[in-house]
Order: sequence, then structure tokens, then C-alpha cells
Amino acid sequence: MRQDLFNINLKNVKPSATLTMSSRAAAMKAEGLPVISLAVGEPDYDTPDSIKAAAHKAIDEGKTKYTDICGVKPLREAICAKLLRENGISYTPDQIIVSSGAKQTIYVALASTLNDGDEVILPAPYWLSYMDMILLAGGQPKVVQCPESSNFKLTPQLLQESINSKTKWLIINSPSNPSGEVYSEAELYALGQVLLQHPHVMLMSDDIYEHMIYDNQKFYTMAQVVPELKDRILTVNGASKSYSMTGWRLGYGAGPTDLIKAMSMVQSHMTSHASSISQYAVIDALNGAQDFLPGFKSLLQKRRDIFFDLISKIPFLKCKKPAGAFYMWIDCSEVINSSNGKLQNSNDFCMYLLEKAMVIGAPGDAFGVPNYIRFSYTVKEADIVEACKRIEKACFELVA
Ligand SMILES: Cc1ncc(COP(=O)(O)O)c(C=O)c1O
Repeated sequence: MRQDLFNINLKNVKPSATLTMSSRAAAMKAEGLPVISLAVGEPDYDTPDSIKAAAHKAIDEGKTKYTDICGVKPLREAICAKLLRENGISYTPDQIIVSSGAKQTIYVALASTLNDGDEVILPAPYWLSYMDMILLAGGQPKVVQCPESSNFKLTPQLLQESINSKTKWLIINSPSNPSGEVYSEAELYALGQVLLQHPHVMLMSDDIYEHMIYDNQKFYTMAQVVPELKDRILTVNGASKSYSMTGWRLGYGAGPTDLIKAMSMVQSHMTSHASSISQYAVIDALNGAQDFLPGFKSLLQKRRDIFFDLISKIPFLKCKKPAGAFYMWIDCSEVINSSNGKLQNSNDFCMYLLEKAMVIGAPGDAFGVPNYIRFSYTVKEADIVEACKRIEKACFELVA
């Protein structure tokens, strides 16, 4: 097909690197190879039975028709109740939009606000889809490298230096995919003070890993910490990670009424609304007992501890214990530098691990930071132990 027939923004967009790695893993598994995939971004345990039962009930009751674009009112009320109960932020149902996944909420927000030349501040490392969604929506990503010395978090000074008259959004993701870092209340407060000086900048707070936060740390979100900014904040969250509902596709955004209206206009011409069945299931998830959450959390925390202990013993890899989400963010520059020229970057390291160790990770370049690799620890403990053994052996063979 003639290339000039495509949307010009598409030329900058890359297919998701993590999905490419996962499909490669699936192909190798189909050949019967003992591949361990640590590239996936979803919990391995099932959606709780009570939530599944609510979905069955919705089907039986015929809740199978089109709904409001922004989601059925009882779901938007349940989201408001959740935001008040867990985050201390007060919203009304007309300030909520429900989408087919938080990914859609984010894309719809960008597509309904970005004009040519508008910039979006993207602290690196970042979730790779932000970059491509910004480009697809016609915006300019302004990548800000957040040094390891600030634990890969944006500092007020870096934020101040990155804002200009074209800045439209800042995206903050805490706990972070891929670094697992969590912004403290004080860190958010300090960033909020900078944003208060720049009334044209909006903040997207991606809270999707809210419930995956360890060692009794507390989760904070900007609308709660700096309420004066609330009219410029879109708080994004969803059911995918917390309730292990990735395939149900249900995410949401809470923000100023005008923004939600614009987003609903865009969404109305895309998917209309999230699946009615998923919506009714998530009403149950949000309003029902949250008693399974501590179990999910301690399972992930245990896996994190095992993974961290093992990976820290491998001489060529460096890693900080992640405070949240379910990823290990590992500096592999030493192994690359010691490879006698066999490896040039983290893409090469990922391919090498795939070939030698049959372990799949995601290369740091995709998250805006070269020489890092991201592993997910949403797999069984035995797989974590086996994967670390294989990674260690592969590293030793490489530098030999
Ligand atoms: C940081 C971040 N935000 C949003 C999402 C999208 O979640 P959803 O499944 O709700 O679209 C992901 C999924 O991996 C993510 O890592």
C-alpha cells in the first residue's frame, strides 16, 4: 500500500516491545521449549469468584445492551465512592469516564486535548505505551530522564526546567511501570507546588498499580495531596491490575467535567463504552468486600523478595528493591560492557537471554532508558528461581 495513505503520526509509532516478546515466547512454547516469560504485564492469578458471579448475574438479567458512553451510573457512583473511601478525593458521577481499559482512558484524554506542537512531559523510565499514544494523538513527547540518584523519579527542578508555553500535560505513574518506584506524599507535594505556578499544565496521574505497594508503604495521588490542582488533574485507574481483570478491559478517569465531556465525545466515536458485562462486574469489585486484596499483595511481595534476593546475587546485574507494581528494573550495563562486544544494548541482552536461557524480559530502550531490562514477577516462585538460575548461568557464559 502507498505509504502516503497512512496517518502521518503512524510513522513514529512502534509496536509494543513487550507484546512482541510475549508473542515470541508463545511461539517458542508452542514448539515445546521450556520458556519462562517474565515479560508480561498482568497477574497470573484469576479474577475473584465474587466478581465473576456478578458478571454471570448481569448476563442472566439481560444487562447486555448499549450503556451510557461514560459508563452506567451505578458504576460511576461506585468509582466516586472508591475515590472518596480510598483516596480522600470527592468526585461526582459526571466527572467520571469509564473506558475499555485505562489505556483507552489515557488515549482518549490525549486525543481530545492535544493540538499540533503540544508537549507532554514524560518522565523516563516510562510505560512504553505513553510515548506511542502521545505521538498517535499528534503531540510531542518531552522525555525527561530521571536519574537513578532520584530513584528514577521526577524532581521539582527537572519538572520546572521542562515546562514551557507548549506544555499541555505531565504524566506521573506511581507505582511505576517499569521501575516499581513509588512517589511519597512529600515528593508529590513538591511537584504539585511547581504545577501550581503553571496554570496551563494538566496532570495525568496513572494510579493503575495503586494496590500493589509493599512493606506497609502508603499510596498517595496528586488530587489528594494538592487539592488546589484537582481541576487540572485526570486521575486514571482501572480494574486490570488490582482485581486481576486485564482481559475484561475496564479502566476509568476522574477529572474536571469539561475534560470528561470532551473525552466522552471522542470515545463515543471509537468504542462507545466499555463492555456492559465488565461494567456490572466492576461495580461488584469496587463495592464488594476487598478481602482478597491483602492476599494478592502478600503473594506479589513474597515473589518480589525471592526475585530480588536471587537477582542481587548475580554479579553483573544491579537492581534496587522495587517498592510497588510487579516489575524488577535491572541495570545490565555491566554485563553488556563485559561481553567483549557481543552485546551492544539491552535489546541484544534480551535476545541473548531468550536464546541462551529461554527467559523473556523486556528491553529498557522501550521504556526510554537504555541498558536496563524489566522482568515481571507475576509468575510462580519455582519459575522465578529457575529463571534466575538460568540468567546467572547465561551471564557467566557471556563474560567468560
Ligand atoms: C502504567 C500502566 N498504565 C496503564 C495500563 C493499562 O491498563 P489497562 O489494562 O487498564 O488498559 C498499564 C498496563 O500495562 C500500565 O502498565
